[in-house]
Amino acid sequence: MDKSVEFSYEELAIATDDFSLNNKIGQGGFGSVYYAELRGEKAAIKKMGMQASKEFLSEPKVLTNVHHLNLVRLIGYCVEDSLFLVYEYIENGNLSQHLHSSSGRDPLPWSTRVNIALDSARGLEYIHEYTVPVYIHRDIKPANILIDKNFRGKVADFGLTKLTEYGTASLNSSLAGTFGYMSPEYTQYGKISPKIDVYAFGVVLFELISGMEAVRLVALVVFSALPLLTIYENVLSRPDAGEYLHKLVDPRLGDDYPFDSVCKLVELAKACTQEDPQLRPGMRSIAVALVSL
Ligand SMILES: Nc1ncnc2c1ncn2[C@@H]1O[C@H](COP(=O)(O)OP(=O)(O)OP(=O)(O)O)[C@@H](O)[C@H]1O
Ligand SMILES: [Mg+2]
Repeated sequence: MDKSVEFSYEELAIATDDFSLNNKIGQGGFGSVYYAELRGEKAAIKKMGMQASKEFLSEPKVLTNVHHLNLVRLIGYCVEDSLFLVYEYIENGNLSQHLHSSSGRDPLPWSTRVNIALDSARGLEYIHEYTVPVYIHRDIKPANILIDKNFRGKVADFGLTKLTEYGTASLNSSLAGTFGYMSPEYTQYGKISPKIDVYAFGVVLFELISGMEAVRLVALVVFSALPLLTIYENVLSRPDAGEYLHKLVDPRLGDDYPFDSVCKLVELAKACTQEDPQLRPGMRSIAVALVSL
């Protein structure tokens, strides 16, 4: 059943008070995001920084038919001059805002972090394994994991890289993705597989554990000339494991975390960020591992 909705520009303009700055809630690599009240519902409208053409109209249509609890739903679109994507509105901002104290939000408790990791893993498992066609997200990072009113996670922006390929193939074909989250085989050879999402997801796990931003994690790696996982290497086998781990855990958690669970998440993050993509687990077994936490 084709449930996608095509909106007119006029309707979107009214819903966003003419795309006023007051309604702007974010700015990303693909365009700006505006809060809207549309047909009685809250929505987030992404104004894409590219011209719409007939060829890629089929893509938003496919995307509106992908439904999963852990994916931000695309309600519809509008093609008038620019391309506009209309999403369900997610109340509680993105994971990046919750992880870093600069946004003024309270620190997330450990159990919430594990839940959000599980939710994101399930969203990714769905697009990797169950959609037709299968999607690779290519831009997994905390800003693309939104937090709903019950503090559950939803993956945003899946399918966008594919969409932009339709639109801008002739303009630029640079790597899609964000520094700090791109796997070695992708940055070096442009090799694309679901395992690039697994790598990025592993970096997000390190951020959930440490509260550190990926760029800082990367800096740590570069300056100590160690691969990301060596920093967390052999935590368990150390005689001072508890103390050592404490230094790696987000200081905003204080002592409020179960040692066992943190160790397991460290192990999982290490597995996800292995250099060899074939050694990284798939999203399905990652989700299974997270359920047990
Ligand atoms: N459906 C939504 N509901 C609520 N807020 C949203 C929604 N979509 C996006 N946002 C907010 O707008 C911000 C900007 O989103 P946008 O996707 O444009 O940029 P980004 O996620 O920072 O980077 P990227 O372009 O790589 O995705 C998000 O980080 C989020 O805080
Ligand atoms: Mg985004």
